[in-house]
Amino acid sequence: MQANQVSAHSREHLLSQTGEYLQNALGDAPLAAIILGSGLGELGNQIEDRLSIPYEKIPGFAAVTVPGHSGRLICGNLEGRKVVAMQGRFHYYEGHAMETVVYPVQAFAKWGIPNLIVTNASGGINLTFQPGDLMLIRDLVSLFCPSPLRGENMASLGPRFFDMTKPFTEELLQLARQVSAEEGIAVREGVYAYAQGPHFETPADIRLLRILGADAVGMSTVPEVIAARHAGMHILGISCITNMAAGVTGQQLNHEEVLETGRLAGERFIKLVRGIVSRISG
Ligand code: HPA
Repeated sequence: MQANQVSAHSREHLLSQTGEYLQNALGDAPLAAIILGSGLGELGNQIEDRLSIPYEKIPGFAAVTVPGHSGRLICGNLEGRKVVAMQGRFHYYEGHAMETVVYPVQAFAKWGIPNLIVTNASGGINLTFQPGDLMLIRDLVSLFCPSPLRGENMASLGPRFFDMTKPFTEELLQLARQVSAEEGIAVREGVYAYAQGPHFETPADIRLLRILGADAVGMSTVPEVIAARHAGMHILGISCITNMAAGVTGQQLNHEEVLETGRLAGERFIKLVRGIVSRISG
């Protein structure tokens, strides 16, 4: 082992300690963890009877550096079901190691959370999409994402080589479609491609990703989904198309537009997630 590699055993030990910390601070594992993407953090403020912990107090969690991401864990009730939400997440482009990016998801798995709802802001590659659309993520282009599981396998979480045929859980996708139909919240479906960032893509990048079958592109989610699949969690992914990807309209991209469109879509997004949480079995 190289000096800069921490053994799987010590990482598993730290994750178990974080799991115990969360159990002591917040009680039994919630039904679902929700990772809130850029501009979608408002849902966290609607959680009732909530306890909130800043990330810097949680063993193993890093600090958040992106404007518009606040950096705290909020645990309480949504639609009468216990959930924990991440207001702010860790990105690779911030300089974090991939192990740090996925640490919260692995700690949630250790705590015993069965379901993960992961959300993000993304750029629309599919030309039929519009800013403000919500997209259920059916599959991922993960090849451009350095694996968060590189290094010695943490066998207590999952096996070394594992299947990614269905990165997202069919039952949860069905549930989301059902909520969409029953509540009249239009959703798209598609493939989300990972880009490392922090720069937005070039028009040529976007043409390449379109050839690869991607409908949307963003700088998060793929690491967390890989880690959650490894740990055997049930996963649902929802993307808010906050802008058309580079070169589609000729307009320049900026982070303020991403946050603003996320906020405008917030009400539909919250209704969708509430509907899903109220119907998740468990
Ligand atoms: N590209 C990458 N990430 C994003 C985008 C985009 O166009 N919009 C929101 N997040």
